[in-house]
Amino acid sequence: MRMIKKRIGILTGGGDVPPLNAFIASAKEASVEYGVELIGFIKGWLGVVENQFVDLTRINLNPLIGGTILKSSRINLEKTSGGIETALENLQRLNLDGLIVVGGEDTLSNSFCLPNFPQILVSKTIDNDVGIIDSAEIINYFTLGFPTAAKRIATLVSLKDGVRTTAYSHERIVVLESMGMHAGWLALASSMGHPDFIIIPEFPLNYAHLKKLIIERYKANKNVIVVIAEGARFQDGSYVSADENEKDDFGHPRFIGAAVTLSKKLKEDLKNHFDTRNVNGVNPSYLYRSGAPSCLDLYWAEKLGKEAIRLLSQSFEASIFLTVKKETKGFSVFPYPLSNFKGIRELHRVVDKRFYDHEEYAVTEEGRKYLAEIVEEIAEQTYGLG
Ligand code: F6P
Repeated sequence: MRMIKKRIGILTGGGDVPPLNAFIASAKEASVEYGVELIGFIKGWLGVVENQFVDLTRINLNPLIGGTILKSSRINLEKTSGGIETALENLQRLNLDGLIVVGGEDTLSNSFCLPNFPQILVSKTIDNDVGIIDSAEIINYFTLGFPTAAKRIATLVSLKDGVRTTAYSHERIVVLESMGMHAGWLALASSMGHPDFIIIPEFPLNYAHLKKLIIERYKANKNVIVVIAEGARFQDGSYVSADENEKDDFGHPRFIGAAVTLSKKLKEDLKNHFDTRNVNGVNPSYLYRSGAPSCLDLYWAEKLGKEAIRLLSQSFEASIFLTVKKETKGFSVFPYPLSNFKGIRELHRVVDKRFYDHEEYAVTEEGRKYLAEIVEEIAEQTYGLG
């Protein structure tokens, strides 16, 4: 008797990250090993709703190339007319036994709209905001894409390969922007490259206090690096810089340059203290998300891709959140039943006071320990440049 092959779909949604193709390539390889058919939806959930997909066995994949061969979208099934019903109908019409959903908070929130369809959820976002960190345990130590972006931002501020040297040479104040609309994990990761101050969305910016600290630091060292997350807010709740007229399907505004806005304000307000012609804002923007994955991202994307297929190839009914778990030494892949979580909000993870000192605008010792596991060490000597 001929066995009927299982049929599995895969989609990638939300902001692209460097290890997505590595994940897909590994899932493709595993689908051959476990004898399942694998199709890839084009542009995330949009492809499910519009029934657009490809046979992944026909696609050549290079795991070292960033972005996602399957493309991406940010569609909200709840806000798409007939979106949930159409998605379910299409998944059933294609005779899929399961769906692998690789996304951030918004993409994964769509999975909760299809509670009876077997899915494996894998988190990817440079924001690192999907998971739980409580005192008892860390669920999902990092999201795919965060290790690469974290290493990149740390490198960008570092003395070795970043802006510290030009800040020193020209006695500059450099304000560097990080991505991250609600969560400051990426901005906080810059601490591994030793900036002077870090501003994150979770803690409203006390501008007068920051200004005082910058003046003191500049007078002492003659150069200062400030990292600011794009979603940072002032104490009155207003964003440092956002266009509230351009919102995506999930209601997030378009961020338009917190670093430049803050640097212009500082340039003006510090004039009476020193020459401010060298106060500048820099925004690497999509460069955090582009290019090849770091070793850590590559390795765990491949592990997660393979495990997602292995799980779905077996008898599989209840959906799973597939995570990266910290072990005494290194990490492992760990499956949680999705029914453990009421909804995606329960998995929304932000930076708190254990990790961030909001009076010093700096990482805490605990934050440094957490990040050190993720950001491969950036060799750093200060040469007295501050
Ligand atoms: O996916 C997360 C993210 O990288 C955020 O940090 C950022 O605010 C957002 O995507 C912006 O992405 P896009 O310009 O692709 O909508």
